[in-house]
Amino acid sequence: MSKTPAQKASKTEVIAAKRAAAVTATREAAKAVTADKVVIFDTTLRDGEQCPGATMTFEEKLEVADFLEEMGVDIIEAGFPIASDGDFEAVAAIAKRLKKSVVCGLSRAGMKDIDRAGEAVKHAARPRIHTFISTSSIHIKHKLMKTEDEVLGMVADQVRRARNWCDDVEWSAEDATRTDIEYLIRCVDTAIKAGATTINLPDTVGYATPEEYCQMFQTVRERVANSDKAIFSVHCHNDLGMAVANSLAGLRGGARQIECTINGIGERAGNAALEEVVMAIKTRSDVLPYSTGIKLEMLNRASRLVSAATSFPVQYNKAIVGRNAFAHESGIHQDGMIKNATTYEIMKPESVGVSKTSLVMGKHSGRNAFRSKLKDMGYELGENALEDAFNRFKTLADRKKHVYDEDIEALVDENIATSHDRTKVVALTVIAGTMGPQSATLTLDIEGHHHTTQSTGNGPVDAIFNAIKKLVPHEAKLDLYQVHAVTEGTDAQAEVSVRLSEPIEGKSVTAKAADPDTLVASAKAYIMALNKLMSKRGRLHAQAAG
Ligand code: KIV
Ligand code: ZN
Repeated sequence: MSKTPAQKASKTEVIAAKRAAAVTATREAAKAVTADKVVIFDTTLRDGEQCPGATMTFEEKLEVADFLEEMGVDIIEAGFPIASDGDFEAVAAIAKRLKKSVVCGLSRAGMKDIDRAGEAVKHAARPRIHTFISTSSIHIKHKLMKTEDEVLGMVADQVRRARNWCDDVEWSAEDATRTDIEYLIRCVDTAIKAGATTINLPDTVGYATPEEYCQMFQTVRERVANSDKAIFSVHCHNDLGMAVANSLAGLRGGARQIECTINGIGERAGNAALEEVVMAIKTRSDVLPYSTGIKLEMLNRASRLVSAATSFPVQYNKAIVGRNAFAHESGIHQDGMIKNATTYEIMKPESVGVSKTSLVMGKHSGRNAFRSKLKDMGYELGENALEDAFNRFKTLADRKKHVYDEDIEALVDENIATSHDRTKVVALTVIAGTMGPQSATLTLDIEGHHHTTQSTGNGPVDAIFNAIKKLVPHEAKLDLYQVHAVTEGTDAQAEVSVRLSEPIEGKSVTAKAADPDTLVASAKAYIMALNKLMSKRGRLHAQAAG
């Protein structure tokens, strides 16, 4: 029996209604997921790199950016394009190569700044401009020397200008936590009306407490009429050691983006550490009902990579990624751990990529064992880098009875840091002891040619650094020289950190090298730091010439 038109229509309506219900359900489900999803915005390459001595070379920045993308970071703030040609170049290169993560460039409120950021990110698959201006009366009066109304006008202008470059625009109220709340509300309202899609309310000076920070987000989100049109973001500095606690409190206040850095590096006491916020969210999901897209097992490796690139050592007791983070020393704790690991362990070391073994290999270990050891430790090297690291490992194993994980980490990190260096240490002989003056005979490989010289000094390290100055004349000032042992024992490798600064631009770089001979490590660290300074200068000269 055929159906009447009315019956046909009602069947179509039922199908349409079912479809609509399915779409609504899917949207609701998606909303529920996104409501809890926290966007991870990493600013290691911008706020992190901004801190004294943490400068990275162009190649190191690309390597870190690739790693962060692979690790699942949603947004990578790649730099501050107007700050220098080197910054611009790095942001532009990162924008061109990343496919999944949003690539963001920072700018102040000036039109030139914004256009420079726009130029830098314009080739990104997913570009973002992050533009900021101070909103606290302290900053408006003493730094900007403007009126509140003038700044309000600038907020609208800066966001509109950025929107001419891309749809994804973040606006930050610098020093938000010391801003009058009524004025902050007017600024946020203006920024959203002008087209900002993310609103960041930073605790720029690390002054807020968690309760205050949470309250600020709640009030602003409640009082700004169109606040649901933007994602709110936290950005916390660690001056009072509350950056992570404040970031998590911001989520309670309704923020859904966290700005953070690997190892917590950043201006002054640093930023909230990425590894700490994501592991807090993971480990305390009972009270922090959020999720992130970070591949947790890559966290330890991210920490090593950034430490190697910046030559900033990770403090031993640093949460999640410090050397002692999973070490149990006292007898009572060790006893508990043997009986059941949950007695003293709230996270499994493997969950953040820390391997359990410490005594590993010796001089009889072959290439395959070395390769699989590196894989266990989370390193993936290309064939050339692997060969180079293996040769260094063999040399070390000949000199040192036990090669520990920490030795291998130091060796591979140094390999990564020096792979693009133009100048390398070839040979060093030092005469030291009570009968001065101490002297050093040094051979360097400078762009493929060997050069040798001899020098004396007030102590062996001074003699070595004088020899380096003879072969590579420079004006850089030595700001820091530090030695520590990589492992225990008298045959342990010495890890030497050297910080140099440019007399004119004042830029400083840090480099770190390890060797069983402290003096060889000193020479290598100094040369690595010089390479970093020269690679910056070289790039600038090349641009000036081009
Ligand atoms: O700390 C801060 O306020 C910043 C802004 C540029 C976002 O880093
Ligand atoms: Zn900051």
